[in-house]
Amino acid sequence: VELESLAIKVARSENLPVLPQIVSSVLKTADDPNASGRTLEHLIESDPAIAAKILRAANSPFYGANKVPTIGRAVSVLGFNAIRSLVVGVVFQQMVSGRPQAANFNKLSFWRHSLAVAVGCRILAKMVLPLKSEEIYVAGMLHDVGMLVLDRFCATEFDEAIRLAKEKDIPLFEAEQRVYGFDHSAVGDLLAEKWGLPLFMRSAIRYHHDIENESPDHYHTTCIVAEAETLAHQFGFNNNSPAGKYEINPAVEEELQLPTEQLAIVGKVMYDEVMRAQAAFQIC
Ligand SMILES: [Fe+2]
Ligand SMILES: [Fe+2]
Repeated sequence: VELESLAIKVARSENLPVLPQIVSSVLKTADDPNASGRTLEHLIESDPAIAAKILRAANSPFYGANKVPTIGRAVSVLGFNAIRSLVVGVVFQQMVSGRPQAANFNKLSFWRHSLAVAVGCRILAKMVLPLKSEEIYVAGMLHDVGMLVLDRFCATEFDEAIRLAKEKDIPLFEAEQRVYGFDHSAVGDLLAEKWGLPLFMRSAIRYHHDIENESPDHYHTTCIVAEAETLAHQFGFNNNSPAGKYEINPAVEEELQLPTEQLAIVGKVMYDEVMRAQAAFQIC
């Protein structure tokens, strides 16, 4: 499989791992300083199935917005930022549900890893870039989304990559590179472009395994995703990769300057939050 042929499939396909229109619209609206809660409310209500799931998640202990009967209330109680994360969480859970094409691809492992990285991103961002913490949460949730395309469009090779990673005890992205000549980050970038995600999210999806080639503009945020990624692996959220020793990239460490003791605490909080987040989205 060539990256170009995947690019064509991604560009043409209408039933991709669907990031429904609603998500791009919600991301744009939540970013717009002039947008009103009403706009966001109408947007969400335009998709009743998603709206129902969002309400249920909003009423779960993870979000703690007890007894919010309507989307309008949820928006005003939780605020734009939390709603953005919630919408992406619900939609992402939907994207991941359903049987994998590649028999070796454990989607539950993929989903829990994505949640762990999202939660880890939010915690780290609160320490180093507090104003962007919810957006970085979204970037973390979507960072490995290219794997869904590999599973959808070239399952046989993806199966082979997962098997190879286990056999050689190497990270999955390296196994993908051996099998395909590229990895899920390049494929995720195709999706991110198609979906019109904000540039820093696209860049985090593209460079989280290749931080050395990240541009100065997005270096800091991509480092946050990369560090959350390592923590997720250290705490057992391995996403179909063999459990191994995952060390934080020294360049990332230098950029974020977070002491090791602190990271151990972040890891524990991350672990607990993933358990709660999983419950919030699974009732969907
Ligand atoms: Fe990745
Ligand atoms: Fe990852």
